[in-house]
Amino acid sequence: MTALTLSTAAASGLRADAIVVGVAKGPKGPVVAPGAEAVDKAYDGGLAAILETLGATGAEGEVTKLPAPSGFKAPVVVAVGLGAVPEKDESFSAEALRRAAGVAARALAGAKKAAFALPVTDAADAGAVAEGARLGAYAFDAYKETGRGGSAAKNGKAPLAEVTLLGGKPRDAAYKAAVARATAVTEELNRARDLINTPPNDLTPEAFAAVATAAGKEHGIKVQVLDEKALAKGGYGGILGVGAGSAAAPRLVKLSYTSPKAKKSLAFVGKGITYDSGGISLKPAGHNETMKCDMSGAAAVFAAVVAAARLGLEVNVTGWLALAENMPSGSATRPGDVLRMYSGKTVEVLNTDAEGRLVLADALWKASEDKPDAIVDVATLTGAMVLALGSRTFGVMANDDAFRGSIVEAAEEVGEESWPMPLPEHLRKGMDSPTADIANMGERMGGGLVAGLFLREFIGEGITWAHLDIAGPAFNEAGPFGYTPKGGTGSAVRTLVRLAELTAAGDLG
Ligand code: BES
Ligand code: MN
Ligand code: ZN
Repeated sequence: MTALTLSTAAASGLRADAIVVGVAKGPKGPVVAPGAEAVDKAYDGGLAAILETLGATGAEGEVTKLPAPSGFKAPVVVAVGLGAVPEKDESFSAEALRRAAGVAARALAGAKKAAFALPVTDAADAGAVAEGARLGAYAFDAYKETGRGGSAAKNGKAPLAEVTLLGGKPRDAAYKAAVARATAVTEELNRARDLINTPPNDLTPEAFAAVATAAGKEHGIKVQVLDEKALAKGGYGGILGVGAGSAAAPRLVKLSYTSPKAKKSLAFVGKGITYDSGGISLKPAGHNETMKCDMSGAAAVFAAVVAAARLGLEVNVTGWLALAENMPSGSATRPGDVLRMYSGKTVEVLNTDAEGRLVLADALWKASEDKPDAIVDVATLTGAMVLALGSRTFGVMANDDAFRGSIVEAAEEVGEESWPMPLPEHLRKGMDSPTADIANMGERMGGGLVAGLFLREFIGEGITWAHLDIAGPAFNEAGPFGYTPKGGTGSAVRTLVRLAELTAAGDLG
């Protein structure tokens, strides 16, 4: 993974493949952003004019490469767009820096080392640049020749290996902490992306559980794995019912990070369908090619718990990974079957493609038994949420309006787009079943909210709960943008980590 160092060196003397500078969109053309004064001076103050000649405007996402000024050790200057010049007395937002750093890191794929001279005004800005650079430099090449010990130089696309952050204060404790935080969060987030991108023939529930067990050992997190036998003994009808059609048996994984100084406890619950074919209610072609991404919620939960442990947050965080593969076969659950859930409720399965709520129901009820201060689940739950909010925004539902608001705010703080969604009571009766306590499907309209209402039935009495439907942003089918690659994005990881930090600080719940 991309190495990061803070430095006060002068850009001119740095041995690097490129110097990255920021360019903003001003009212009269591109403006060189603070942090690049020395570089601009070496062009005799003409950098903005050169950039304008080359067609640069300073728009977000824009990359302009030019020869470095004479005397520079680095051969190339990369000017990256930051968007509009900030209002008077304001600085560039953390998210603008994160995105610009990500764009620059992507543009420098194949290079070894780059120095980033972006407008960093405080430690948080340095953290944002560090995050953007490492997230943007991400590549999933485990299944390419280059990833198997072949020559990365062959296609010139190995991720940028080393980043020097200029303009920070390397000896300042706040800067060091911000970069260390960024390192832990981005390493775990990129690991979540790897899990999401790993093909489903390799990432079975058992394989995912093994990854969690190994990470637990490494980071002092207690990991308990319930295999199919233990699930049967415990009466986990939801998880077993979804996994029944697959040759790869389901698992329920509990990760417990505890801090001796914790005053509060959080439970994160993730949907971990390692592949969603739809089951007997098979998805049509065109709807199943990306369904390896259906364990993105579990990947986010896993990454967030490990990050919380690495950061030593003073809060207890339990992660639950509800892992199963949804396949059709002679042993698969049929539409019409009734499952007896871990909570004791019975569910009539009307559509085997509404499987996420079934595995989550068992995990949510189990998580409730520990009586955490709050439960947050994360799931690629419904196509309806993608229709409602598009592919970059996740929906937030909750049984507590203030908690829902805090989550949307926390997401915004870390640069994730989310939106509050309601749980309209009248939609509950659509799930009434003539046979069982509830059906796993209701009205088609508002399908994302119906799914949220189903989950609410499996939250223990009096526990604050929120549900993040990340079906849109979990997997990027379009081209890369900002620090977001194609494929698995790591959606919700940063929001969960932020929630753990806020809870530790006593600022949440
Ligand atoms: N995993 C899907 C939801 C999904 C859709 C995730 C698109 C990512 C992108 C989920 O299991 C599903 O199939 N939901 C159904 C529910 C329906 C049958 C009630 C849906 O949304 O169509
Ligand atoms: Mn499904
Ligand atoms: Zn699914």
